Amino acid sequence: MSDFLKTVNLKKSYRIGRNFEPALRGVDLEVERGEFVVIVGPSGCGKSTLMHLLGGLHRPTEGQIFFEGAELTAMADAELTALRRREIGFVFQRFNILPTLSARHNIELALKIRGETPETSVEEILEMVGLTGKGHHRPSELSMGEQQRVAIARAIISKPKMLLADEPTGNLDSKNSDHILDLFTQLNRENDQTILMITHNPEAAKIGDRIIKMKDGRIVN
Ligand SMILES: Nc1ncnc2c1ncn2[C@@H]1O[C@H](COP(=O)(O)OP(=O)(O)OP(=O)(O)O)[C@@H](O)[C@H]1O
Ligand SMILES: [Mg+2]
Repeated sequence: MSDFLKTVNLKKSYRIGRNFEPALRGVDLEVERGEFVVIVGPSGCGKSTLMHLLGGLHRPTEGQIFFEGAELTAMADAELTALRRREIGFVFQRFNILPTLSARHNIELALKIRGETPETSVEEILEMVGLTGKGHHRPSELSMGEQQRVAIARAIISKPKMLLADEPTGNLDSKNSDHILDLFTQLNRENDQTILMITHNPEAAKIGDRIIKMKDGRIVN
């Protein structure tokens, strides 16, 4: 048994009108510490749903999630939130950066929430994601790809044990995409950060240690 991340018969249904429609139909997944796992599959197959459950953002309808031996699915909301802030970094498919804050303040906020002072400065992080000199821009003053890189910077500055990235290169051209993928590889190898990355990009899928294929709410490897 993997002691880093494990799911048992994970299911999630969403209520649509009067019906419950299944988005995950029983996912059993094990991820070792330090793995770089890529998740692929057609649109609507449940990839983002799975990621939101793994990160403790949503609750499953059925099944269990264990993170470092602790059962996430048995935790009270406050405990779950604390663990999420401490250990998990998210890059969302819709990047969820705050529109009224500058790039720099969006990144700093991620640390403030955790009550940390950065080991890596915001300047360094901006440079790492190729946004040198853009720290004072608000999201509306940045391109889509730049906003995505702010979201990535925010997720990685606190060096989370587990980085969950939903289409992190979706809005990036091939040069910036390669740059971000190199950065992820480096975080994975040098900091031993475990990464789960969803992607539709066949090139991006190649960089992981392992590819998990999903279809219709299930893993189909
Ligand atoms: N908040 C929600 N309420 C109701 N149904 C939802 C909700 N979120 C997702 N779904 C449904 O659950 C299924 C899985 O959605 P999910 O977003 O996980 O797919 P995905 O694999 O991430 O797709 P994509 O590649 O397009 O991002 C879809 O059928 C979707 O319509
Ligand atoms: Mg998705």
